[in-house]
Amino acid sequence: MIKIAIIGTGIIAASHIDAISKLDCCEISALCDLNEARVKELAKSLSVPYFLDYRDIPDKVECDAVILNLPHGLHAPASVFFLERGIHVLVEKPMANTVAECEEMIAAEKRGGARLAVAHVQRFFKANRIIKNIVDSGELGKLCMYNEQRSINYFLDSRPAWFTNKKMSGGGIVMNYGAHAFDKLFYITGSKPVSVSASADNLINERDVEGHAQIFAKLESGVSATVTLSGYSDVVYEAYYYFTGGAIKIVGTYAIEIRREGEKAWTKIEDTSDTLAFVREIDEFCKYIRGEESEIPDAAYGRDIVRLIEDAYSDALR
Ligand SMILES: NC(=O)c1ccc[n+]([C@@H]2O[C@H](COP(=O)([O-])OP(=O)(O)OC[C@H]3O[C@@H](n4cnc5c(N)ncnc54)[C@H](O)[C@@H]3O)[C@@H](O)[C@H]2O)c1
Repeated sequence: MIKIAIIGTGIIAASHIDAISKLDCCEISALCDLNEARVKELAKSLSVPYFLDYRDIPDKVECDAVILNLPHGLHAPASVFFLERGIHVLVEKPMANTVAECEEMIAAEKRGGARLAVAHVQRFFKANRIIKNIVDSGELGKLCMYNEQRSINYFLDSRPAWFTNKKMSGGGIVMNYGAHAFDKLFYITGSKPVSVSASADNLINERDVEGHAQIFAKLESGVSATVTLSGYSDVVYEAYYYFTGGAIKIVGTYAIEIRREGEKAWTKIEDTSDTLAFVREIDEFCKYIRGEESEIPDAAYGRDIVRLIEDAYSDALR
């Protein structure tokens, strides 16, 4: 049984805690958060100890692995702390704020002998797995382009404040949702970018992260992608995959439609939603720890996504 400490018990932690409760390979051995009232109550409900400082955990509880659900600026120092002590790490996306931080994490992984994985969850959603199968089967011909549009209200008061503090978040909507878009694209195409260009700005307030951005990337495979992210109104989340023999449309995380060359209408693909993405993710992390074949994204994959984001920011700010 792999004993896992959850570091950061905010919004996404609930998905990990629920997933672990559905798995036989692992259990929660401790929780940690700065928000004592919240972590104390959660720890009581799960009958596990809680900590306010993650550095106290290795000496006080059995802990084979940690899941880091922290502000992005803390991903690198917390990962390095645990990896150097031989404790496996699943760090939430994006892996860190910069490629240099990712390299520090990879060096700590080598020094400590534990494994570092990144919780890029897109491949564990059934809908994305279905799309990958269509791409790989060639049934719509060759994939040539990808186009994603996402417009949400990024600056709601309900969003934890660190997301709009650049030191803690590393950036705005690109760092947060761009990481998901490019995870999806890397997974589905199996290829990485050869060039990236972008524009980014913030038109509605003085917070120090971008509120909208447009990114254009060319991949090694020849596929090109545009990702349009707008953080001012909650109106759209959809993506199109263009093939030589048709197209796939996905609305939100689940709703897939397909249209072949010559067809007059889109056809809905049934049964694409599921609730098991995080269960698959943590199951694959456990396999990775045990040295088995695993689908969990490794540290090099996480670093490549941070590199794309870093390249997009540097082009946008030129
Ligand atoms: N995979 C997904 O779909 C998904 C969804 C949401 C968030 N995320 C990622 O998960 C991570 C966390 O995001 P969130 O939305 O849960 O944020 P959040 O603000 O809700 O949670 C972060 C928690 O970390 C705690 N914290 C801050 N500093 C700490 C420290 N030094 N020690 C211990 N705890 C500390 C905060 O008190 C807070 O409870 C981010 O990397 C984010 O991008 C991923």
